[in-house]
Amino acid sequence: MTADPILSVAGAVGGYGGADILHGIDLTVGRREIVGVIGPNGAGKSTVLKAIFGLIRLRQGSIRFEDQDIAGWPPNRIVRCGIGYVPQVDNVFREMTVQENLEMGAFLRREGLEAALERVYVLFPDLVEKRRKPAGSLSGGQRQMVAFGRALMLDPQLLLLDEPTAGLSPRYCEQIFQIIRDVRAAGVAVLLVEQHAKQALAFSDRAYVLASGRNRAEGSGADLLADREIAQMFLGG
Ligand SMILES: Nc1ncnc2c1ncn2[C@@H]1O[C@H](COP(=O)(O)OP(=O)(O)O)[C@@H](O)[C@H]1O
Ligand SMILES: [Mg+2]
Repeated sequence: MTADPILSVAGAVGGYGGADILHGIDLTVGRREIVGVIGPNGAGKSTVLKAIFGLIRLRQGSIRFEDQDIAGWPPNRIVRCGIGYVPQVDNVFREMTVQENLEMGAFLRREGLEAALERVYVLFPDLVEKRRKPAGSLSGGQRQMVAFGRALMLDPQLLLLDEPTAGLSPRYCEQIFQIIRDVRAAGVAVLLVEQHAKQALAFSDRAYVLASGRNRAEGSGADLLADREIAQMFLGG
């Protein structure tokens, strides 16, 4: 638990229309906190992020962001209240240029577009020379940066990142982790789903282990890393 969380999910139950996938998930994210979510494939990690972002409707439970219950809100309203989301797959418009992708992230923004672009290009210098190239022509790591940058274009207070390092080379992984630190230093809270469980625990302030749509464990990243049972079950021994 977190005192004065920016996000708090309580008793989240829901799925994709058939059987429930989430069976009562609880989690909180504090201000400027990096919170990891790990667990086996199919545990419901991506589904939790989709529920927070309004892409699936919960059958039960609440999602509080700041002082509002946002459960049931559509994504366009959620993005406007300060939550950015980077999906696990298909997260760029491939035919559009890098810069057009970034501008799409700011479609709700009436002013400050140039300044927002500038901030993103400072965080992701690799994208500057690619800005007129179709996003589909970029490497996986660079596309991940475009998706990440696009989510930053509206200055979110909370970022939902679904496996931002999946399939990336160690160099890009380290770069993405460094950018997450920079974003947090700028005041943003981060909820980070990661396949690289050990790395995620070492990196996160706090983390949740999910299994079969339920909370399995939670604690500081360091405590979970040191937990032998968790290590055996979820971290490959
Ligand atoms: N669009 C969908 N429609 C129906 N079932 C889905 C859909 N997406 C995921 N699922 C199912 O929900 C469960 C949890 O998936 P997911 O949240 O993607 O797991 P994780 O991200 O932890 O690997 C899985 O059993 C998966 O097959
Ligand atoms: Mg997933």
